[in-house]
Amino acid sequence: MRPLLPGDGRPRRVRAHGRGGRSHPPRRPQAGGNPGVSFPEGFPQTGRRVLAQAHDNHPVGQGPRDHLQGRPNRPIRPPGENILTFKILRFDAQTDEQPHFQAYRHEPKPYETVLEALKDIRDQQDPSLSFRYSCREAVCGSCSVVINGRIALACRTQVEDLGSDEVVIEPLPNLEIQKDLIVDLNPFWEAYRLVEPFLQAPGPVPEKGHRVAERDMEKVFQYVTCILCACCYSACPVATRDGRYVGPAALAKLTRFALDPRDDRPFSALERVDGPDGVWGCDTVFRCNDVCPKDVRPADGIAVLRRKIIAGKTKRLFRRKP
Ligand code: SF4
Ligand code: SF4
Ligand code: FES
Repeated sequence: MRPLLPGDGRPRRVRAHGRGGRSHPPRRPQAGGNPGVSFPEGFPQTGRRVLAQAHDNHPVGQGPRDHLQGRPNRPIRPPGENILTFKILRFDAQTDEQPHFQAYRHEPKPYETVLEALKDIRDQQDPSLSFRYSCREAVCGSCSVVINGRIALACRTQVEDLGSDEVVIEPLPNLEIQKDLIVDLNPFWEAYRLVEPFLQAPGPVPEKGHRVAERDMEKVFQYVTCILCACCYSACPVATRDGRYVGPAALAKLTRFALDPRDDRPFSALERVDGPDGVWGCDTVFRCNDVCPKDVRPADGIAVLRRKIIAGKTKRLFRRKP
């Protein structure tokens, strides 16, 4: 079968060593109660401590959030006693043969994210340090890196949650390094373009817009939340060994439109991913599901596409019968 993506599928330039994603971090405790149901007895007590108790034995002078309590696994230490080592993978295609780690000493503020730590290190110690970011609130999907062996958004990972005196930060695997933590996302975007990631509705848009039943859109919402961070692509072992594999994010996006009742793309659009470079290449090891910061669960989408392709082919087979 013709490869879906150009290239021979082998790594082309320097990549960070291919570490796949690990399991999900433990979820934070959820709020109790039922959504949308009011409290019949009034609001529960918040259980806040009185001010004197809250500030008892607590270090001060660490900024506007200094009244907040440290995490049980990493209590807030007085200033100057919480200096951590940040080992960051550095590579400059202009000057370096191989990537290498550079260590920086940095004291994170309470509740500082890895992205904020990177910005502080860049601003205060090394302006040549390069990394991507934009929104700083898990929306733009541009700050994905590997943090202590886990693929994650730097802006959504708090340093103290790592519970370690050493923070190792590397660029995303499966993609070539351009500079330090910045990788070449072209293979990811090529795959994304291949699935034509836009609504293909027949005819002009109705004056009052397309009307879709809520229950139909519920099937789609899971895939709409993708922020194109490429965490799943970088964690995918199939993408590691075969650069022609379309990858989980693109397939999840195709699922998003294949399930949308407004979309009228022909069956040939699904057939484009009906092969070892598409849905049948997936090993179903669910690393994409594990690392996705938005719980898109791309492997669910791959299963949906497989079922749709089988159903479409079966239908075509019976239609051909005399
Ligand atoms: S489930 Fe499939 S797409 Fe997801 S990481 Fe595994 S092989 Fe890749
Ligand atoms: S599916 Fe999840 S991990 Fe993959 S690009 Fe979208 S948000 Fe990122
Ligand atoms: S900076 Fe936008 S997702 Fe992290």
